[in-house]
Amino acid sequence: MLLTVTLNANVDSTYRVDGLEVGRVNRPSEAHVGAGGKGINVARVYRTLGGDPLAIGLLGGHSGAFIARSLAAEGIRGRFVRVGGESRTCIALIDSISGEQTEINASGPLVVERDLTRLTALLKRHSAGCRVIALCGSLPPGVDAGYYGELIGIARKLGVRVALDASGEALRQGSAARPWMIKPNIHELGQLTGEETQSEAEVVESARRLLGNGTEVVAVTCGEAECVLVTREGTWVARPPYVTVVSTVGSGDSFLAGLLFGWLRGRTPGESLQLAMGAGAANAARYGAGFCAEDEISSLAAQTVVRSV
Ligand SMILES: Nc1ncnc2c1ncn2[C@@H]1O[C@H](COP(=O)(O)OP(=O)(O)OP(=O)(O)O)[C@@H](O)[C@H]1O
Ligand SMILES: [Mg+2]
Repeated sequence: MLLTVTLNANVDSTYRVDGLEVGRVNRPSEAHVGAGGKGINVARVYRTLGGDPLAIGLLGGHSGAFIARSLAAEGIRGRFVRVGGESRTCIALIDSISGEQTEINASGPLVVERDLTRLTALLKRHSAGCRVIALCGSLPPGVDAGYYGELIGIARKLGVRVALDASGEALRQGSAARPWMIKPNIHELGQLTGEETQSEAEVVESARRLLGNGTEVVAVTCGEAECVLVTREGTWVARPPYVTVVSTVGSGDSFLAGLLFGWLRGRTPGESLQLAMGAGAANAARYGAGFCAEDEISSLAAQTVVRSV
């Protein structure tokens, strides 16, 4: 089973605007509102692929109740700690004319020590029978950047592997706790290594340096450009299949879901990467984060060429 953790869940609103005008009233030609947050998106795509994930995390207020209800309606299992304040709203404005994507992401409710104590207990309780825990996304106000590292230490003691998808200081401190897998995008890789990588060879080298002391898999995504997967056994590079892009919000989460699903089903790293690329691309072709269909994922995965380097 896959357990996903979302500390900063959100109401995810995607609006298509045909020519965004700043300082004016804009009326969307299409709107999509649903439960969001990186771990929740991962769980959604993992379930679409045929898995039965459990999403845990923190929820607050009316937005939190909406998120819980939406997940239940989608058939995604969830267990959440209720916090004071409101879960945040994230708005993506997709300009269909310029192709630009503008995001407005609130910071989230203030979390107190007691909330985290309860979340840690929830994670321990649901770790039994769980093969991977995915720690995903930003930390809401009040959560120390070392919290992911703490959870990684707990998971290690329980014998459960952790996949980490975060950014900034949470990623830096989380990576230092040596999770089994890290999935940075190219900018997050730069935050981790302190240097901007340009060429494929540089990305491979930076990713390989992150391996060891418990970290066995590093996947570096780069939007529509090639993605790199490294393990102790080898290095794989894949070019995303072509899609007409609608919104790439959640493509990284969809990618992670595909990679974990393939891996946990015993597929080879190359095959798992192919599925991940299919999921990331299928997400980019749809509004909303992680609302892609299984047949689209499979057909785009089949169009993805993976090479071992
Ligand atoms: N324009 C695109 N066309 C095809 N596939 C894409 C495109 N953008 C993203 N993808 C797929 O999704 C994967 C992840 O994308 P990206 O590197 O943008 O993730 P990310 O920055 O972590 O995204 P997020 O954190 O918003 O979910 C890529 O490796 C690729 O497989
Ligand atoms: Mg990401």
